Amino acid sequence: MLRERFARNSDFGFDEINIMSIDFNQIPSPCYVIDETLLRNNLQLIKQVKEVSGADILVAFKAFSNWGIFPVFKEYGFGASASSLNEARLAFEELGVKAHTYSPAYEEKSIQDVLKYSSHISFNSMSQFQKFFRIANQKGVSIGLRVNPEFSDTSYDIYNPCRPGSRFGIIAVELDVGLPQGVEGFHFHTLFEADSFALERLLAVFENKFGKFLPGLKWVNMGGGHLITKKGYDIPHLIHLLKDFKNRYDVEIILEPGSAFTYQTGYLVSTILDIVENNGIKTAILDVSFTCHMPDCLEMPYKPVILGAAEEMAGKPTYRMGGISCLAGDFMGNWSFDKELKSGDKIIFEDMIHYTTVKTTMFNGVNHPSIGIWNEKSGFRLIREFNYQDYKNRLS
Ligand SMILES: Cc1ncc(COP(=O)(O)O)c(C=O)c1O
Repeated sequence: MLRERFARNSDFGFDEINIMSIDFNQIPSPCYVIDETLLRNNLQLIKQVKEVSGADILVAFKAFSNWGIFPVFKEYGFGASASSLNEARLAFEELGVKAHTYSPAYEEKSIQDVLKYSSHISFNSMSQFQKFFRIANQKGVSIGLRVNPEFSDTSYDIYNPCRPGSRFGIIAVELDVGLPQGVEGFHFHTLFEADSFALERLLAVFENKFGKFLPGLKWVNMGGGHLITKKGYDIPHLIHLLKDFKNRYDVEIILEPGSAFTYQTGYLVSTILDIVENNGIKTAILDVSFTCHMPDCLEMPYKPVILGAAEEMAGKPTYRMGGISCLAGDFMGNWSFDKELKSGDKIIFEDMIHYTTVKTTMFNGVNHPSIGIWNEKSGFRLIREFNYQDYKNRLS
């Protein structure tokens, strides 16, 4: 199967096209395949942005944390952002860094460990700050507050942390009394798969509401949602915004994108097990599931790209893709193909690396796809398989 790939040039462009072949038939099904060449393209680009802008750019573990490939990440020297004790510990153990941690709330029973694995901690509310400020301070962890600018231009409510009534962050009126002593940074996260112009609009609102506190701070963490590696992202504009902000306020800028690191860096390889037909609708039953293995397709929702398939076209063989779970809604439609599909055919879902393996479930006892790395020189390498014990061990 031929796969068209984009390689980047050093001017942040995307204009070299590299045609190469991955033999998906050599790969066990089902399997998430991380394409190391595409991943390195992303890592190199983000590293360049980090160096030229002077901002620190962290990998948000919530989007991707397959530590089997962290040796590659380590070559590029990124830090990590964590949203739980487990993520912070993984960052420490497998990436060798202390995390910048934010969670909507911390627990007494685990705060000591969270602090042990964190260089920075952001509190979601004044009550959480008051509860844990002293201990964080004693441990020498830099303390921040998550603030909520009450502005986001995402059209997906499920990814909008600034909706009225949101549980995320301290709104500006709560700081009318002033900033408590000991706060060194602000953290905000409102963007989703956004471009640099959305960040510009957001910064205008943020500065208007919180700008008066910035001269007293050491750092501002501008969260995730910066899809820097998407074709067409205006990187020079982003760099300009970051440098300008840093010059005006003399603060360290931190970004913590998740998706951008592993955006379009691999596939979910699946196989058709059966084809069923009901009222003229043909469904290919797969050995993977949308709800278990591609949950964002149903939650967001969005329709993934299938290699070699097109949007529904009259006159062409057209199919729904049906998941292996018994959830009635575990299907998506419709894709058209050049020829009729049959059992045994491979279905390759594109861009299935971020927010997949970190969110999967074993609902219905459905087996988890393997995880592997595809590398141009050495081919395919399996890094993890799952079995009955993985299913059983989670349940009691
Ligand atoms: C606080 C925070 N930081 C970073 C991210 C990463 O965002 P993205 O993967 O869209 O870049 C998220 C995503 O939900 C988040 O909630």
